[in-house]
Amino acid sequence: MSDFPVTPSDIILTGDRTTGQLHLGHYVGSLRNRVLLQDHCQQFLLLADAQALTDNMGNYLKVRDNVLQVALDYLAVGIDPQKSTIFIQSLVPELSELASYYLNLVTVSRLERNPTIKDEIKQRGYERDIPAGFLTYPAAQAADITAFKATIVPVGADQVPMIEQTNEIVRRFNASVDQDILVEARAVVPEAGARLPGIDGKAKMSKSLGNALVLSASPDEISQAVRMMYTDPNHLKVSDPGQIEGNVVFTYLDAFEPDTALVDDLKARYRQGGLGDTVIKKQLEERLQALLEPIRTRREELARDPLAVMEILKAGTRQAREVAAKTLAEVKHAMGLTYF
Ligand code: TRP
Repeated sequence: MSDFPVTPSDIILTGDRTTGQLHLGHYVGSLRNRVLLQDHCQQFLLLADAQALTDNMGNYLKVRDNVLQVALDYLAVGIDPQKSTIFIQSLVPELSELASYYLNLVTVSRLERNPTIKDEIKQRGYERDIPAGFLTYPAAQAADITAFKATIVPVGADQVPMIEQTNEIVRRFNASVDQDILVEARAVVPEAGARLPGIDGKAKMSKSLGNALVLSASPDEISQAVRMMYTDPNHLKVSDPGQIEGNVVFTYLDAFEPDTALVDDLKARYRQGGLGDTVIKKQLEERLQALLEPIRTRREELARDPLAVMEILKAGTRQAREVAAKTLAEVKHAMGLTYF
């Protein structure tokens, strides 16, 4: 089963900005779960190209090209378009229209206080020169979520403030029209153990930090990543006792090696001294090669026919648009914007 319980009436919505290929961190933190969840309730997966543009306008082709790349990642890990609706954000204009109304329910100072926005402004060095579309993307994200009446939004911990702000908008909107049109959603965050550090030991795996292992990695790239993987810098000789905490190889073994007795045994021997990094790395490499081989093969097959993948996205987008249009109509109706 997945990490959290859902009921058949739950509606899941989540998505990814299309700025790069997905990696093992995405796999452990969310993709794995999405594959399980699609059998238990309705699931919408958003390729967030429009949101990606809020801070990538100078790189629009990257954003566009990664729509296909992220879709390939989804399909390669086993997301089934018969079960999950995969769609392209920019092709659902109802989302922008909803967002334009929601913008009237949030203040600039509230947006500036959103902790994720605050961090991102700092990271990107915007200071006071913040693209307005970037500052207001929480309202757009509220549209993404509410358009589908999502009840569950599986996201990374950094996204929790977005769901909080979404729910504020929901409550404000419902209160202002005095009807329960929009639905509050629950953020579901992966357990601590589902957060994979980068291969360099940094807390977050990220392509831009250069510490990620992408899902399409070749066998050589996998070997190289494992070879470079951060272990215990004080474990100089095989006979030295080694440390498990912060040792990326063990963190990954915990995430990927189903034989927990074997991992426990390796940990005990490593701690005691006498077990070299090459042994634990060999074990991990076998695991990762076995995990990624079928994903890579399936991805390569799919990538041979990009038009077929785009057809999947077209069908998903058509479906998503219908749902979003219905919510938008309800929202407008509730505001009395039904003139003719
Ligand atoms: N903000 C999310 C991210 O950066 C992507 C995203 C856009 C999203 N719209 C969403 C996630 C709606 C969940 C729900 O990864």
